[in-house]
Amino acid sequence: MASLTVRQLDEKLKQQLRLRAARNGRSVEDEVRTILRGAAAETAEPAPAAPGSDRERGLGRPEQPLEQVSKRVLLVIGGGIAAYKSLDLIRRLRERNLAVRVVMTKAAAEFVTPLSVGALASERAFTELFDPQSEFDVGHIRIARECALVVVAPATADLIAKMANGHADDLASAVLLATDKKILLAPAMNPHMWSNAATRRNLAQLVADGVAVVGPNAGEMAERNESGVGRMAEPLEIAAAIETQLAGASGALAGRRVIVTSGPTHEPIDPVRYIANRSSGKQGHAIAAAAAAAGAQVTLVSGPVNVPDPRGVSTIKVESARDMLQAVEAALPADVAVFAAAVADWRVVEAGQQKIKKSGSGALRLSLTENPDILASIAHRKSKRPELVIGFAAETEKVVEHAKAKLARKGCDWILANDVSADSGVMGGDRNTVHLITPSGVESWPTQTKDEVASALIARIAAALGGESK
Ligand code: C5P
Repeated sequence: MASLTVRQLDEKLKQQLRLRAARNGRSVEDEVRTILRGAAAETAEPAPAAPGSDRERGLGRPEQPLEQVSKRVLLVIGGGIAAYKSLDLIRRLRERNLAVRVVMTKAAAEFVTPLSVGALASERAFTELFDPQSEFDVGHIRIARECALVVVAPATADLIAKMANGHADDLASAVLLATDKKILLAPAMNPHMWSNAATRRNLAQLVADGVAVVGPNAGEMAERNESGVGRMAEPLEIAAAIETQLAGASGALAGRRVIVTSGPTHEPIDPVRYIANRSSGKQGHAIAAAAAAAGAQVTLVSGPVNVPDPRGVSTIKVESARDMLQAVEAALPADVAVFAAAVADWRVVEAGQQKIKKSGSGALRLSLTENPDILASIAHRKSKRPELVIGFAAETEKVVEHAKAKLARKGCDWILANDVSADSGVMGGDRNTVHLITPSGVESWPTQTKDEVASALIARIAAALGGESK
């Protein structure tokens, strides 16, 4: 088949195309594609799929005419090993009837090729800031503006640093600086780079600037024998976060930032054993989901649980109380923090580096030390204290009395107290009976599902904050 580029057309035709494209809010390339598709649809019956082809086997992605595409996402692919997942992300977005325009950094092209990216996105990937062809067809300012949302995946430490400092020395950073659209980052990097003070500072700056973040998750790294927080969120998680951003936050917590902790923590005894508790994470996860549904930008810091990550929430997975505290601090600033996690009160002073063997004496002495109190340390912060700090009090007796004392001791604003005695069925169950304790009194809520408790709490939070975003 003959190949055609816009550059080969005569000046007058190019001029007409440019005007038509501008009128329709499309790039010249998209406009040409739209015209060609229209012409093909008018003149031809669809050709039968070749035997054995992807289309015949039903595997091909249904090509969505661009004029039917609901919105365009601008995907900036940074240079990290997680870039391979961005290919899958493009497919997931196309399945959701979204157009995807891709900008790749030079380093990204070392991991995935512009050819594969272009084939999946159905338009060529943009790579160069000073590329006469892309400046002619689209131009970096148009790339930055002609989209509903900008997504950076993987967002490398370098790209995050450039964004935080306003650099614009390549196409990706120039587009990120020039855009007037919301930006969603899916960070991916080595755990040491992720926890480095410079990255923490840069990310805090971007979050304060209104940039949304999904992930990273904890797990294995590409490097051998490395694990920790730094794996890019999975394509489906990123797609869900994109859908939430695109849905347009119009709920009662629109524009608010909410941190929720959930689940138990695991405190290592040795490489194979840990101290834990029976928390399922159902209540905390329900609160995170309800806050996201109300339009908040939610960071859920979760201990090990078996419940799925809520949609549209940035979930950070941690194991121990100390990791949880670090993740919560990194997620600040926030308007509201809800501490629903059942954090282990103690950890082993020095976890064994190797599996502890039986000594034959019949007894093992473990020396325990207290874990940091995450709720109290956030509630007592001098800087970046969320406007509303909410704790839970899981009690087995004198529920309200103990919770009131806890409110004062921990320095939080509200406490939700619940009875977790064995016969209450709250731990791991789907229902909860809570008492909301605030400085102005105690409200006892009827027994309801954990989802209902979450919705009621979010409604109370929205009312306390005055509903609309600051
Ligand atoms: O002290 P207690 O564990 O009963 O307090 C419960 C509240 O404090 C919960 O909101 C829980 O998430 C929080 N907490 C915490 N860090 C701890 C212990 C409890 O954030 N180390």
